Formats: sequence, C-alpha cells, structure tokens
Amino acid sequence: MLQSNDTGETTIPANGIYPHQWNWDSALISLGWVSVDPDRAWRELRSLVGMQMADGMIPHIAFDRRPNSYLPGPDWWGDLVGMDGRRVSGITQPPVLATCLRLLWQLAPDELQARQLLAPISHWHSWLLRVRDPQSIGEPVIVHPWESGRDNAIDWDVALERLPNARTSFDRADTDFVDETQRPTKVHYDKYMYLVEWFRDHGWNQDAIGKHSPFRMLDPGFSAILTASASDLAAVATELGESAIAEESMRISENVGESLKQRASTDGLIRAVDLTTGDTISTISCGSALSCLNGHLTDTHIDAIVESVTVGVLSAPSGVLSAASNAADFSPENYWRGPVWANISWLVALGLDRRGRNDAAELLRYRQLSTYAKIGAREYNSPSGTTGLGANGFSWSSALALVEVERLAQMQAH
Ligand code: DGY
Repeated sequence: MLQSNDTGETTIPANGIYPHQWNWDSALISLGWVSVDPDRAWRELRSLVGMQMADGMIPHIAFDRRPNSYLPGPDWWGDLVGMDGRRVSGITQPPVLATCLRLLWQLAPDELQARQLLAPISHWHSWLLRVRDPQSIGEPVIVHPWESGRDNAIDWDVALERLPNARTSFDRADTDFVDETQRPTKVHYDKYMYLVEWFRDHGWNQDAIGKHSPFRMLDPGFSAILTASASDLAAVATELGESAIAEESMRISENVGESLKQRASTDGLIRAVDLTTGDTISTISCGSALSCLNGHLTDTHIDAIVESVTVGVLSAPSGVLSAASNAADFSPENYWRGPVWANISWLVALGLDRRGRNDAAELLRYRQLSTYAKIGAREYNSPSGTTGLGANGFSWSSALALVEVERLAQMQAH
C-alpha cells in the first residue's frame, strides 16, 4: 500500500483525492516505512522538512509538480515556495513531526539523518509561538480549520458561520472520488475558500494573519501535539549533544503544556476556544482526547480522558470518535463529525501509554487493528468499524497498522 502511494521522496495520502505531500500525513507515514525500508522512512522526513519556508513555517501541503484536479491547487496559494523549490500552501498542520522523529530515532537510529532534522524542526516550533501567539496566550492560534487537520469538526461550526463566502467560484474535486455525504458540505467549503482568499488579500503576511485572521481558534489537539513534539525534540537533541535546541524545546513544551492545562473545564477535559469572541466551545471532540499527549496534565485530567475514550462519549468499538456521540450534530459517516480515524486512536494510545495507562492504550490499539483487519486501509470508518469510509488505500492507516503489527511481533519474540 505504501509502495503504491510512493512518489520516490514523498508518500501521498491516497491516490486521486490527495495527490500531494501533506505535513502530518507524511510524518506518521514515515513510521510505516521503518519495518520495510528504514532509509525510505528517513527520506520521508527529509522531504517533509524540505517544504519549510524561509520564516520557519512547515506548510500543510507541498504540491506535486504533475497536474491534477486537487482544490485548492498551487495557484490558490499565490507563488509561495518552500526552501526546496516546491510550491506550497500558506498554512500549517499539527506538528507531530518531532514525535515521529523520536520514534524513528528509537526504531532505526541514524545519527546523521536525525541531526539534520533538529534545527529545522526547532525553527518551526519557535515560529508557532513567535508568529502564532501574538497575544502571548501560551498556545499557538490556528487560522484555518485545515490547520487542525480536522477540517469540518463540530468545534469550528460557530466560527465558520460568521464568515462570508468566497467571491471566486471553484470546482471541488474531492466529491469526484468520495461520496459527498462523507465529505464537508458546500457551505463549509465556501468558508474554507474565503479564508484562503483573505490570506491572499493580505499578501501572505503571517504576522497579520496570526493577529487578524477572521478565523482564530485554540485547538487542544494541535497544542497538545506541539507539547509532546517539543519534548520529544528535546530528548533527541539531548542525546545528540545539541543543548541549545534541547533547552529551547523544553521551554516550549513546558509553556504550552502549562497554558493548555489551565484551560481544563470542571469535567477535566480541555475544549477549543474561539479567540474572536473568547468563548469556549462546549462540544467535546477528539481534540479533547488528544490533549493526553500533554505530559503536564494531572492524573485527574488523564482519568477524564481515559473514561471518555474507553467507555464514554468518545468511545466506539473501532476506536476514538472524532466527535462526541451525544453532540447535537454528531454524524457517524461524515469526515470529522463522528467517524473514527486511525491516526487519532493511535496518537491517543501513545499519549496514554506515556502516562502509564497501558491497559487503556492497548484497548485502543486493539480496536484500531481489529478494524483494519476488517476493512483495510480506509481513510476513516463508521464507529462500529464495519463500514470503511472516505478514500481507499489511505497511507497513514496502513503505516500505523504496520507499526503496531511490528510491535506485537517483537513482543511475541521476547
Ligand atoms: C482536504 O483537502 O480535504 C484536506 O483535508 C485539506 O488539507
């Protein structure tokens, strides 16, 4: 599966609907390459860092040079280019890269490769707090739902409703590949494209975008992923004797982790915040579950997450729900509004494992793998795990299944 999505230096998420390199996809996919071809795994991360822009941001997409129907393609993003010369988007994505770097370093250590990645990743993390936290809240603001990786999560509904529609007409290609009932609505796409136009109208000035984007949210998933990644980067940097990067990364991890912890509600869970109004979003989503990656949470916070993902409102037979089952707009087959995604169950399991909640982590991995055995490498699936949804042949679903199968094989061998 990975081999069929391999373009040589990058692995596309899925043929047809996603023909480019995506940031968090690529990071997670690299782990799948380890047991097949470790050098290919390192090459994946090298190409991901290659899309970095001069200011430090690692964008959410680097565009493949071959023509295709993907919307919004490179022309929507002006003439933005990454340092390796590829055209890129002007927004970012959850910074899971350094966590993947650390896992890769443990599974298939390659000092030269690891060393080359430290400074670029550190530069990106610093950018997230320098440019994306203009109010010194302690967490980066996301300026587009695509930056959360959870495009049409219920968390963003109210903030998107306020926005006008894009003035340019556009043709979506995604619904040529996947049934439209499983994809974001036209109403949401009009807002997504409006935001891209707004960024272009502001000359891709990232300082202005961070301060004034008409969509500005705190996402507990994004922030917790940054906390874990910064601490993972510090760990690798320490081993390689890069003390300046290690210190700066520990500082970022602690600052973001403490700020995020302060926002927990009385039920122990952390929710999204709409910075335009200051309102905390009442809905619970897998963003709240991902916050277990924040090593600064107390045991009480972790208890609340364990309850929600094993038996509570985020729990399903196939893994962690993208939206709480009791949410008014819960939709079990629509993209990020209910279905289960392999990357989320896997990342939550990683976070819980690191907090010593190994039974809960094993349960989530069992749910993820048994679903994979039933439906294969689908992009997402129905909560029961019986119906595959979204794209076929989805890379991170396969990559993360490979990681876990390999881990089970190692455990059995011992
Ligand atoms: C898409 O195109 O659906 C992506 O999620 C946006 O990056």
